[in-house]
Amino acid sequence: MNELAHLAIIMDGNGRWAQAQNKARIEGHKAGAKIVRDITIWCAKNTIEYLTLYAFSTENWKRPKAEVNFLMKLLLKYLKSEKKTYLDNNIRFKAIGDISLFNNPLKEMILDLEECTKNNTNLTQILALNYGSRDEILRCFQKIFHKYTAETILEKIIQENLDTAGIPDVDLLIRTGGEQRISNFLLWQISYAELHFTQTFWPDFNTQELESIITNFKQRNRRFGGL
Ligand code: FPP
Repeated sequence: MNELAHLAIIMDGNGRWAQAQNKARIEGHKAGAKIVRDITIWCAKNTIEYLTLYAFSTENWKRPKAEVNFLMKLLLKYLKSEKKTYLDNNIRFKAIGDISLFNNPLKEMILDLEECTKNNTNLTQILALNYGSRDEILRCFQKIFHKYTAETILEKIIQENLDTAGIPDVDLLIRTGGEQRISNFLLWQISYAELHFTQTFWPDFNTQELESIITNFKQRNRRFGGL
């Protein structure tokens, strides 16, 4: 049976979920935020160590301004209202990505929540915020460029300078919403991840479907390039 230490999810399909019900796209994001909460609590209660969620990508700035603004407000509201959930469930919160482009209240909330939960020992929930894998790798190169030569650089050095430093590689990556692509998410960290694509739109995703995906994952034969 495979151990599942690190679960990552590309939460896709909010817009199509809303459109299918003649609702505005933002209603899909609102409904999606509720699922973030359910899935996070389930992971905390089921001894998953790390849950990484793709909440806002470096490419998402290209969306209409009103949708971007709504997502920023929703994130801030979520983090504020869920602070108690993180504390009550001993969940550590961490952001990956370049949050410098966010507005001050959102940046401050992210840093506050990271600080308040840093000693929590249950699940670590990682939100990918203004995250793109290529951007992360570029920032990593910028950090290490002057410190190493071709002879002294090691894989470990790259790992330790990514946003996910100290976090194990992803074991299982799920993408909801029916598309079968990675969309610039954790490219380094998913090298040996098992992949699962589901048609379910994110606002319809639930803990039963997650449990069944995990049961299937545990039975897969992971060889990591060996026999
Ligand atoms: C993809 O759906 C989803 C996003 C770009 C944003 C993810 C945001 C949430 C799940 C809600 C808020 C998150 C938190 C952490 C509170 P899409 O809009 O690309 O859907 P579509 O492909 O159907 O258009």
